[in-house]
Amino acid sequence: MSDAPLRIIQVGAGSMGRTWLHTIANSPDTDLVGLVDLDLGLAQRISEDELAALVPVARSLTELKELTGADAVVNVTVPGAHNVVNEEALRAGLPVLCEKPIAPTVADAQYIAGVAEETGQLLMISQSRRYLNQFTALRQATAELGRIASVSCEFAKAPHFGGFREEMPHPLLVDMAIHQFDSTRALLGADPVSVYCESYNPGWSWFAGDAAATAIFEFPGGARFVFRGSWVAPGQETSWNSHWRVSGERGTALWDGDNTPSTGDPLQPVAVGQEPEQTAGSLAEFVACVRTGTPSQSDARGNVASLAMVEAAVRSATERRRVELGEVVGG
Ligand SMILES: NC(=O)c1ccc[n+]([C@@H]2O[C@H](COP(=O)([O-])OP(=O)(O)OC[C@H]3O[C@@H](n4cnc5c(N)ncnc54)[C@H](O)[C@@H]3O)[C@@H](O)[C@H]2O)c1
Repeated sequence: MSDAPLRIIQVGAGSMGRTWLHTIANSPDTDLVGLVDLDLGLAQRISEDELAALVPVARSLTELKELTGADAVVNVTVPGAHNVVNEEALRAGLPVLCEKPIAPTVADAQYIAGVAEETGQLLMISQSRRYLNQFTALRQATAELGRIASVSCEFAKAPHFGGFREEMPHPLLVDMAIHQFDSTRALLGADPVSVYCESYNPGWSWFAGDAAATAIFEFPGGARFVFRGSWVAPGQETSWNSHWRVSGERGTALWDGDNTPSTGDPLQPVAVGQEPEQTAGSLAEFVACVRTGTPSQSDARGNVASLAMVEAAVRSATERRRVELGEVVGG
């Protein structure tokens, strides 16, 4: 493939869709050639409000594919629509960069990973927190610690979102913890084998479902990942990126989620790079993978494990027992 900008159709013009429009527009490696949403009026308004030049809009990908000669799709629809849109794109011969979570259930995720393999097209899941330069520095520091005994992650916030998050049964585990779970897979370069999780809803919670949880995952080799999270924890809140501590046989690495990670005794800051971050970092990796055929660090098959961590944690909390990840992924 040439180095010409990748011609992209974006599907989904909601709130995260706006972020993606700007990310695609600001990248020298991509051209936005079409915008799709079931709500055509919304797509037109967003196109007019957010973009310097109007792009064709439509209610479906198929309507725009031929017209635009697109090379790839960015899928920013709601999770329940991810599989439909991803399958339509993959079977039309287009690689896809899809927002997290890959799909609502592990079974759906495994299905769509299979479609990607069958069609030979890349389906990459955008886990934007992997593309934070400070997190990359924490990964590098972790790699210097030898065998890892434990990773602990504390998340404490008190946001009033309104809307679906305040109605769903497990808002913290399903909508938030997938970020920290995926980050831990990246840190350890492995997938967990089991989880014990307790989730609960403090008496003052403004969420209908459990807004707090503690989970202990076991990784191959015995490392433990302990997640403590709450969405109803006012006062001394953590970063949106959480507080992290990684403990290994050769020392410890710390990251408060907002500042330079540190390691060593006495503590020394870790060198932090200057790569594109968040959605821009994810898009840059997607473009490179499409152009060169190199694998993505966040392809669909691998990302099933991040969703499986969520599903296993919810099952453990619901059934009040330790759950093997194999029960969820069918391994
Ligand atoms: N990485 C992050 O930090 C982050 C933050 C927020 C949202 N997200 C993810 O981004 C995605 C979108 O979230 P949002 O907050 O923008 O949702 P949203 O509800 O604001 O927007 C989704 C849009 O998708 C459209 N849509 C639904 N089904 C469609 C279909 N079949 N074809 C075309 N359009 C369709 C809807 O009409 C809507 O405009 C979700 O997967 C969400 O988890 C990620």
